[in-house]
Amino acid sequence: MQHEDPPTGAPTPAKAWSGRFAEPADRLMQRYTASVAFDRRLAPYDIQGSLAHARMLSRCGILSAADLEAIERGMAQVADEIRAGRFEWSVAREDVHLNIEARLTELVGDAGKRLHTARSRNDQVATDIRLWLRAEIDGLLGLLRAVRERLLDLAEAHAATVMPGFTHLQVAQPVTFGHHLMAYFEMFSRDAGRLADCRRRVNLLPLGSAALAGTSFPIDRESVAAELGFDGVCENSLDAVSDRDFAIEFLAAGALAMAHVSRLSEELVLWMNPRFGFVDIADRFCTGSSIMPQKKNPDVPELMRGKTGRVYGALVALLTLVKAQPLAYNKDNQEDKEPLFDAADTLADTFTILAELLGGVTPRPERMREALSQGFATATDLADYLVRKGVPFRDAHEIVARAVREAEQAGRDLSELPLEKLRAFSSRIEADVFGLLTPEGSVALRRHTGGTAPEAVRQAIARARARL
Ligand code: ARG
Repeated sequence: MQHEDPPTGAPTPAKAWSGRFAEPADRLMQRYTASVAFDRRLAPYDIQGSLAHARMLSRCGILSAADLEAIERGMAQVADEIRAGRFEWSVAREDVHLNIEARLTELVGDAGKRLHTARSRNDQVATDIRLWLRAEIDGLLGLLRAVRERLLDLAEAHAATVMPGFTHLQVAQPVTFGHHLMAYFEMFSRDAGRLADCRRRVNLLPLGSAALAGTSFPIDRESVAAELGFDGVCENSLDAVSDRDFAIEFLAAGALAMAHVSRLSEELVLWMNPRFGFVDIADRFCTGSSIMPQKKNPDVPELMRGKTGRVYGALVALLTLVKAQPLAYNKDNQEDKEPLFDAADTLADTFTILAELLGGVTPRPERMREALSQGFATATDLADYLVRKGVPFRDAHEIVARAVREAEQAGRDLSELPLEKLRAFSSRIEADVFGLLTPEGSVALRRHTGGTAPEAVRQAIARARARL
């Protein structure tokens, strides 16, 4: 593979439109306007789209059978050259579309020049991006599924493992670790739903819109859509060549998915800190320090948290790209590709690594339970107990607050206060209270759908497996 890089001011090979211009393009201008350095990535989709277009032209009597045969033969060779890394990409030929068409024409002559009948690069590039993005979404959906499967496995193993649930990052109430993980399962399920929804709007064919106004040739767009696996055609030619909403939707769904990855990453970083010590993360996801010999740093979760910004950036870049564009196509749209590619790659790598990382997380149930002995996590359970014995909730709240103050002064948990001490706060308290002042007793009571009881978590996991 080569990049042609002529010296400044040097004459450059003729372009498809050079007849209109008197002077050769300057090298910087060429580099600035060219997209081949990055849109080469679309080559397989460009070829796929061109072949479907050529076959339709032939079916509709716009292209001869001999020309179609030459195009198919030439394209097979172009595809081979690209796959083998033998294709000579040229900056002077601007983008992936003109590079491929020029090489095809070198190989098969006039038939290659006829391929662009009833088409423009504007509908061509929109088609390529949609084909590419559809494949990316399908890949990401598979990866998100693997992430969710790992979460389910871990949640199942720890459906009854108690840990502190936090609000304001202060110990709030006991929850099960499985329940906590299932919260992320829900987030990633919504992410998958958003990607699948966005795919429906990606999967429509722009081709046939030509530059902006459609074409004077008697084309059959529906048959091209069917051949390329699109669900239908874009309805309006002006919209079809200029619309990038589908890409923005994809990035919005991706940005939100990264927000979820980032939240989970942040928790892993906290949990691995020895002051929490809730989990161990396998060495292969951590690194040491070049100066502090004792260090084991959770680099992978930190990087996942950090890479979130890239996808947010891509979303903002595309929103900004479209915001003041008049109809129809404008060259601005060439700037859609790098952020899109980067975001799709970041998402794919991140989901892949997250699924692996979850397999390398070892929970430390004893440390989670230990953390529950501080913070009076079952205070709400004592209040609820008093309510069940007829005490109005606001009074119960007050009684328990006083009991917590006493326990705190004594340096004990509520469950460690003797019954007589507790009864000094309310005579309704009896020996049966101790069953629910333990973390296990507390979570066991929350058996409803969406609750943290081991049995409720196991039911949620069973429903989740059925949904996957
Ligand atoms: N490389 C261009 C892009 O990515 C292809 C479309 C060019 N169309 C045009 N009229 N210059 O948008």
